[in-house]
Amino acid sequence: MALQGAIHHFLTNPILFVYQLLQWLLDKLLSPTPPPPNADLSRPKVAIIGAGLTGVSAASHCVGHGFDCRIFEAGGRKALGGIWSKVNNTSGLQIHSVMYRFHPSVKWKKGYPDRQQIVSQITQLWERYGLEQKTIFDTRVTKVYKDSHGRWIINDPSYGRFDGVIAAIGTCGDPKMAHITGQEKFKGEIYHSSQLDGKNAKDKKVVVIGGGASAVEALEFVAAENAAHTSILARSEKWIIPRNPFVDMLLSLNVFGEETLLSWIPEGLLRLFFYRDLYDLSPPPNTKGIFTDTPMVNDDVLDLVRDGKASWLRGDIIAFDESGTGIRFNKRSQGVPKGGPGREELIEADMVIMATGYQRPSLNFLPPECFDEPYQPPNWYLQVFPPAHVDICANNCTYVNAIGTVGNYHIGIYTRFLLMYLVDPLARPQEFWMKKWIDMTRWIKSKAPGGAFDFFTYGELLYWFAFTILINPFRWKWALFVLFGIGTALPMSVVKQEDKVRNGLGMKTN
Ligand SMILES: Cc1cc2nc3c(=O)[nH]c(=O)nc-3n(C[C@H](O)[C@H](O)[C@H](O)COP(=O)(O)OP(=O)(O)OC[C@H]3O[C@@H](n4cnc5c(N)ncnc54)[C@H](O)[C@@H]3O)c2cc1C
Ligand SMILES: NC(=O)c1ccc[n+]([C@@H]2O[C@H](COP(=O)([O-])OP(=O)(O)OC[C@H]3O[C@@H](n4cnc5c(N)ncnc54)[C@H](OP(=O)(O)O)[C@@H]3O)[C@@H](O)[C@H]2O)c1
Repeated sequence: MALQGAIHHFLTNPILFVYQLLQWLLDKLLSPTPPPPNADLSRPKVAIIGAGLTGVSAASHCVGHGFDCRIFEAGGRKALGGIWSKVNNTSGLQIHSVMYRFHPSVKWKKGYPDRQQIVSQITQLWERYGLEQKTIFDTRVTKVYKDSHGRWIINDPSYGRFDGVIAAIGTCGDPKMAHITGQEKFKGEIYHSSQLDGKNAKDKKVVVIGGGASAVEALEFVAAENAAHTSILARSEKWIIPRNPFVDMLLSLNVFGEETLLSWIPEGLLRLFFYRDLYDLSPPPNTKGIFTDTPMVNDDVLDLVRDGKASWLRGDIIAFDESGTGIRFNKRSQGVPKGGPGREELIEADMVIMATGYQRPSLNFLPPECFDEPYQPPNWYLQVFPPAHVDICANNCTYVNAIGTVGNYHIGIYTRFLLMYLVDPLARPQEFWMKKWIDMTRWIKSKAPGGAFDFFTYGELLYWFAFTILINPFRWKWALFVLFGIGTALPMSVVKQEDKVRNGLGMKTN
């Protein structure tokens, strides 16, 4: 029966069948074995802050390799899944799920999963690795400090002592609402882009404030609801790239992580073949390069504009109109900067959606020395390890912009870097060298308009990993473990021998 089902699946949808087969293989090859229930896990013990996909994935890597952990989550059980537990049911991935493999055991049933499927995969991972007993909900972390033995305490000593800390608090906290002059007089409805479930946009004139990924999602939502017309009011230039995994992966593989002399090629191709007749909606040449800011991944926006169902308006909001029927807007032409001259228009609206983003969760609970200039986040070792404390890894919550993906293999790689540093003193970088690496990367990227660490690409991340492993021979034995999560036994036994030798020589072993 199962074989018959598989053959039927293969014949009806061969590409999806191969994708699912590959995911099954990756799971078999790369997923660490979940520990048996009540297993006695060893130290180092890691405190993980946040139960979004980063925290849950990091925890499953820790326990899968035999190390104990606790997850601290500010929200209740319903917050499992982080930001994905809070957004609209219609939200989903814009990038292809092949770039959203936050754990090797993740099995996507389609290319572009929705919010429910993402939360379900996070929950399954959490259950599979027995993390129910290791998650402490309703506990916001406000303070992380060391005891006299150098072990980490989270909030207060009642939770025990930890050898390492993973901050996985994400970048999207509470919804951010803009306050616009005259808002009180508006006769229509105003919502944040994350609060659209159950809202009715049929036949309404909708205005979306903001020109980011949430604005695009809001436009898709109201278009599906048959809104009369939607106007997107965008004050900044932003690139839109097609929903094509090959194009998106190719862009993310720019190993320099910044604009290069050849950036005009992808930019020109996008203008020619993707924007086409809507060329003037693209950021004008020589202003915002594609490798400076997170692009939006979408295929529908430009078609909705072409069909006359939506307008993408570049300009600045002046105020809600006195009449309560819309927004006064200074519409700028391509190339005119923010706040520059334009033509004032009244954009009529029955519904306004604030796609104005989210508050950034604070890392203030970390010790103050993590923020010492010029090594404040994101200017940290590999972007995530503050030079003052190599036993802290702030994963997926220090960056500003990127071409790549948040929920991918690097979560496991960073977790294993931390585990390597915790168990192997010879592989652990010293503060001096961490700072030197940061200085070097800043020097290499000194002309990067997006900043040295503020903007990165996935290709650059992979180069950082390879470079910092190759540069230290004591890390070579860990390469397979750090990069793929396999082959722990060999480096662990070498570390034991090294410890013996160093013990014999009267040296400190940790
Ligand atoms: C609508 C939407 C769509 C998106 N689509 C994509 C996409 O297509 N591709 C992509 O790469 N990214 C996308 N993102 C970005 C998304 O944020 C990441 O992909 C990813 O979900 C981040 O996961 P995380 O675990 O790092 O953070 P989060 O999911 O934000 O989880 C962080 C958790 O930490 C908890 N927390 C915060 N502070 C504390 C504290 N002090 N103490 C204890 N707990 C704390 C929070 O309560 C939260 O549960 C999207 C975001 C949104 C809003
Ligand atoms: N499926 C997806 O891929 C998807 C969907 C949604 C969100 N996300 C991710 O979630 C994160 C948040 O995205 P987001 O779109 O919600 O937020 P965002 O990227 O911060 O974009 C917010 C937008 O609102 C504008 N804005 C903010 N305040 C404003 C004001 N007072 N007046 C006018 N405009 C204002 C901003 O303009 P300025 O740039 O000028 O400040 C920006 O264009 C991003 O990492 C994004 O990639 C992804």
